[in-house]
Amino acid sequence: METVILKPDEIEKAAELIRQGQLVALPTETVYGLGADALNGRAVAKIFKAKGRPMDNPLIVHIAKLADVEKVARAFPPKAKFLVEHFWPGPLTIVLPKADIVPQEVSAGLDTVAVRYPAHPVAESLILAAGTPIAAPSANLSGSPSPTQALHVYKDLQGKIPAIIDGGRSQVGLESTVITLATSVPKLLRPGGITLEELQAVIGEVQVDKGVLSRLDEGARVESPGMKYKHYAPKTKVVLLKASREQYITYVNGKINENPGALCYEEDLDKLHVPAVSMGKSTDYSSQAYQLFDALRQVDKLDKKIIYAICPKPKGVGLAVYNRLIRAAGFEVKELA
Ligand code: TXA
Ligand code: MG
Repeated sequence: METVILKPDEIEKAAELIRQGQLVALPTETVYGLGADALNGRAVAKIFKAKGRPMDNPLIVHIAKLADVEKVARAFPPKAKFLVEHFWPGPLTIVLPKADIVPQEVSAGLDTVAVRYPAHPVAESLILAAGTPIAAPSANLSGSPSPTQALHVYKDLQGKIPAIIDGGRSQVGLESTVITLATSVPKLLRPGGITLEELQAVIGEVQVDKGVLSRLDEGARVESPGMKYKHYAPKTKVVLLKASREQYITYVNGKINENPGALCYEEDLDKLHVPAVSMGKSTDYSSQAYQLFDALRQVDKLDKKIIYAICPKPKGVGLAVYNRLIRAAGFEVKELA
């Protein structure tokens, strides 16, 4: 199959593909998604095949009209209403009880559905033009870093999908925050652009799922199936170093005989004596989120056996950066402090 790259003004072509039950990769403010008609189980099944995604990992349903939440979710509790008022459209996914209209392929057999209203003009126009909610995971091959540019999608999925809409670079750079309201106390399943602190300010108590900060035990019951898989991993082995910037620089420069690469803060690029890729400014978590996935793709181009990465601070949006990096490193974190 030939994969065509469409411009944002070619939405109608993309919408027609969605209506026909085909796949289209689309830009969102978080990362690029691989979309299909969320109400068509056979179309949704193609997503799993193209990505090589395990069938037990459910998808997010993207809407572009508030009224559609009540079409895909069986219940819309007051806390959901507050969250929607504060954060939609935007990088927040809310897990709610599923309505029957949503096929099992989307929810991977769960009784819940994850819903998001993306803040991106192209995504919004496509959903409206297609006339149906769009189910979309990140548009990468399963396991590799999520795509923040059309070119990343093309590299992973060319020949497997009919079209990609090129909407430029994704502004947030990491996938949406996922919160479930299907538990007695709301629970953060995946940190993202909307922070834990922001959620707590709007709805009060929010628990943090164990899988956010650490590896889940084999066979443990998981609230968010996506969190149990090795993820975001470049081909090169990544070791995460928990250290001050000075300790990190001294350690990496001391390893020069090992011929490693580095994934470091922008300010430290010049201080390292090994090839290095920046993952944003040390004090600017949003810049780290924006750059991380592209940086993870770039470290493979250094062609090293090992990459030493600085461990970011797990605060604010930094919690999401940390959550992705520990997975990229296969949870290998070395403390220098
Ligand atoms: O920003 C994003 O969320 C992007 C863009 C395209 O919208 N999408 C995305 O989808 O990251 P994906 O499939 O890569 O991640 C969805 C996450 C997975 O961890 C999945 O397990 C979880 O959401 N999820 C989906 N439905 C769920 C449900 N019903 N209950 C619990 N977790 C769910
Ligand atoms: Mg993904």
